[in-house]
Amino acid sequence: MLHFPVLLEESVEFLIHKKNGHYIDCTYGRGGHTSLILSSILPEGFLTSFDKDPEAFNHGLLKRDKNFKIINESFCKLNSYFLDETVDGIIFDLGTCSTHFDDKERGFSFRQEGPLDMRFNTLKGIPLSTWINSAKELEIRDILYKFGDEKHAKIIARAIVNLRKDKPIETTIQLADIIEDIYPERKNKTHPATKSFQAFRIFINNELDELKESLEMASKVIKKNGIIVVISFHSLEDNIVKNFFKPDIKSYPKDIPLNSIEDKKFKCIARKIRPSEEEVHKNKRSRSAIMRVFKKL
Ligand SMILES: C[S@@+](CC[C@H](N)C(=O)[O-])C[C@H]1O[C@@H](n2cnc3c(N)ncnc32)[C@H](O)[C@@H]1O
Repeated sequence: MLHFPVLLEESVEFLIHKKNGHYIDCTYGRGGHTSLILSSILPEGFLTSFDKDPEAFNHGLLKRDKNFKIINESFCKLNSYFLDETVDGIIFDLGTCSTHFDDKERGFSFRQEGPLDMRFNTLKGIPLSTWINSAKELEIRDILYKFGDEKHAKIIARAIVNLRKDKPIETTIQLADIIEDIYPERKNKTHPATKSFQAFRIFINNELDELKESLEMASKVIKKNGIIVVISFHSLEDNIVKNFFKPDIKSYPKDIPLNSIEDKKFKCIARKIRPSEEEVHKNKRSRSAIMRVFKKL
């Protein structure tokens, strides 16, 4: 299956406010947003796209335009490449591409047998199998609660630890079967392993910490009047984004009424934008997307 870019026109319309500006696409993926940004800017404009997945760029649909550069690196390294206040717009389209789930060798999907890896960057860090076969039961439980909001975290963690004694957990289906076998609710529409796979993916890629770090950097490298667009796919990401740009209440005197406090650094110019019914109909994956847009003051 191809990857369909989510909220494509809406996000790029907010992002491009100067056709000769310098922009960053933090999540190249399969180049959906990158392509539209490139066709929306003038040759004097410039786009730099990041993706930590080395395979993202192998699919290179794009010709290497003169005003375009790709960097195979995590977006939390933004400040190694850009000076403060030098960029006009930054976009994050978080999470996974549909193509990650299609490639069984990447280990993201509980529907296809593959090595239990789940790393965006297969050249760095450890695959999920290494961690899951050595982590303490309590650690596994905490990850399932924290990143998957999985109410059966305790029994899943126990089953993993018990069953790995007989045979190390090396594949996606092995893990999915362990979860399915002990999962109390059997008639749900969603697969019992859905939340666990999300939790392990977030953990193994350090997704939430990297998002926090990169927002910090994005807020520095963006110019005054520059735009930051973030498309999130679950509440853990969206809460980080929302709270990052909230005014720092502690820095105001206590006697100032809360509703009179405005952030001096960023203004939220679009909150909680969701895909249209038409987009959700065409691309089911877009249904959980939430876009927020901020302008640096
Ligand atoms: C939803 S896809 C982006 C899709 C893209 N906008 C498109 O239209 O083709 C998210 C991408 O972000 C990448 N990614 C996830 N975390 C990242 C990080 N910390 N740094 C850089 N890229 C990351 C993933 O490898 C994936 O390719």
